[in-house]
Amino acid sequence: MQVPSSAPTPIAPDALLVEVAWEVCNQVGGIYTVIRSKVPATMQGWDDRYCLLGPYFSQQAQGEFEAYDDYQLSTLSDPFAIAVRRMRQLGYDVCLGVWLVTGRPRTVLINPYQAYPQLGQIKYELWDHHRIPTPDNDDLLHQVEAFGYLAKIFLQVLASEVVPPQRVIAHFHEWMTGVAIPGLRRDQTPVHIVFTTHATLLGRYLAMNDPNFYDHLMQVDWLPEARHFNIETAVTMERAAAHGAHVFTTVSELTVRECIYLLDRIPDAVLPNGLNIERFVAGHEFQNLHQQYKAKIHEFVMAHFFQSYSFDLDKTVYLFTSGRYEYHNKGFDLTLEALARLNYRLQQSGLEGNVVMFFITKRPFTSINPLILQNRAILDEVHETCEAIERQVGERLFYAAAASTDHRLPDLASMVDDYWKLRYRRTLQSWKTNSLPSVITHNLVDDQKDDILNFVRQAGLINHQHDRVKIVYHPDFVSPTSPLFGMEYGQFVRGCHLGVFPSYYEPWGYTPLECVARGVPAITSDLSGFGDYVMQNVDAHEDKGIYVVQRQEKNFDESAEELTEMLWNFVLLTRRERIMQRNNVESNAEIFDWKNLRIYYDRAYMLALERQ
Ligand code: G6P
Ligand code: GLC
Repeated sequence: MQVPSSAPTPIAPDALLVEVAWEVCNQVGGIYTVIRSKVPATMQGWDDRYCLLGPYFSQQAQGEFEAYDDYQLSTLSDPFAIAVRRMRQLGYDVCLGVWLVTGRPRTVLINPYQAYPQLGQIKYELWDHHRIPTPDNDDLLHQVEAFGYLAKIFLQVLASEVVPPQRVIAHFHEWMTGVAIPGLRRDQTPVHIVFTTHATLLGRYLAMNDPNFYDHLMQVDWLPEARHFNIETAVTMERAAAHGAHVFTTVSELTVRECIYLLDRIPDAVLPNGLNIERFVAGHEFQNLHQQYKAKIHEFVMAHFFQSYSFDLDKTVYLFTSGRYEYHNKGFDLTLEALARLNYRLQQSGLEGNVVMFFITKRPFTSINPLILQNRAILDEVHETCEAIERQVGERLFYAAAASTDHRLPDLASMVDDYWKLRYRRTLQSWKTNSLPSVITHNLVDDQKDDILNFVRQAGLINHQHDRVKIVYHPDFVSPTSPLFGMEYGQFVRGCHLGVFPSYYEPWGYTPLECVARGVPAITSDLSGFGDYVMQNVDAHEDKGIYVVQRQEKNFDESAEELTEMLWNFVLLTRRERIMQRNNVESNAEIFDWKNLRIYYDRAYMLALERQ
């Protein structure tokens, strides 16, 4: 399979496209990235024949969605606006507006709660018509079912507005919106339905709990397993959506296998995920950004470590991993094992240089560790003191230079007032300590049972001065409002040297791709959809800064050894080689631009139009 170079425009000029997702204007996970980043490329092909549909949650919508007012709505004459007006006449609370993201797509949001009075009937019909059972106490399922019911009505109203040969394609993502599909088919609504699953629900649970998931996949009996994990409703919805769609798709070859064995339908197509790759006009700009954000990470590292001991930041390499806290699925276990081996190798080698590894994930915590916050504050104080001294010396030196008769550099220390000398000394005294820098930045709710902490305790990888691999475990997402990093996630990524994502279970996995898009090399695995795609479609991917750890045919120990080797080779690169590699990564990232990957979607749409 080769990446097609460009997509035809416009696509199916007689068709309308409605893309339905729970994460429209509502960020939960990776599907938000899929939909949002794809908008500009989709608009290129579909323009005003395209509309997004999602649930209205006021809190989330506030920052991302701009609804048309009644007057604006009354002036629009396209089928989407007409359908929204008709729904309003029927008494439904439906908004039409613009999602405030690049491409500004037209968006319909429907408040699921308005259908709560009908929940009894909705549940009854789901069971009676489609054998989907619903428990009484699960609010997410209630929201999903209420939204599915309303989405179905919207599509039925829209379809009744459309005059043949104009046709409607409805593309549903994931079971949360897919629940509308069986009803649409039962009512024989004239829409062409595509359903994309971004993982299988059961696959995710099984992978988390069964160390031999891939060997057992072919024998799984879905219903007892779904009951065992208490996810029967969602799994039956997923199956009903997969079977009801005219065209059933998923995001990678890996999830194809799950679809076959867990959903019992072979997908019609694989729709790989892309990004909207924005390139700077000046090529070196992204390298400057790396430098700039790395300086911010240096500040964090100084505050965190230097109170105990210092090391040469110019010879330090920053690695990171990030994502949902699934210790085994995300390959945190493999990463830690490889880091321990790398630490040993570096210690034995006599080579210079250090590695700082950041784990960025989300765990329940009570607070940021107050000592770490205090360190940060003292370092800021050190910084201020240095600046004050610098100003004082600067002014006095300038005066001394102008007045100089012998042209010799005067004694700079004598230019500092005693007040500042004392303050300098006291601040440093109150800062330096003998205790080891903490591995974790926050106080976890359950510190004892945490897998990352237990590994580092057991392996003794706890930031000793002699450890060449240091660990920083930050159990919260990086954000500009966080007092520790104070930067956007994307800026943090740019400041690092390498992303490490050797997942065991990952239907697609955006994190390595997000590195690549920013010119930062990344490690992925052949058990992630992205890694699998890269192996099949990108020649010489290592030269392009994408390393794939083999996990399919290898045991844990072999994969850990391969990952150690990759990290070792990376650490040995010279600065010049790193700079060249980043250039290479950045200039090849366009392979993953939606401009190139959109065609897979368009093909699925063409196929749906052929099927009734
Ligand atoms: C960018 C900057 C260079 C800097 C380099 C550091 O390329 O433009 O000025 O020297 O980053 O690279 P390193 O891999 O050591 O962080
Ligand atoms: C799911 C998958 C993830 C993928 C995302 C978008 O969240 O777990 O691997 O990147 O969907 O397709």
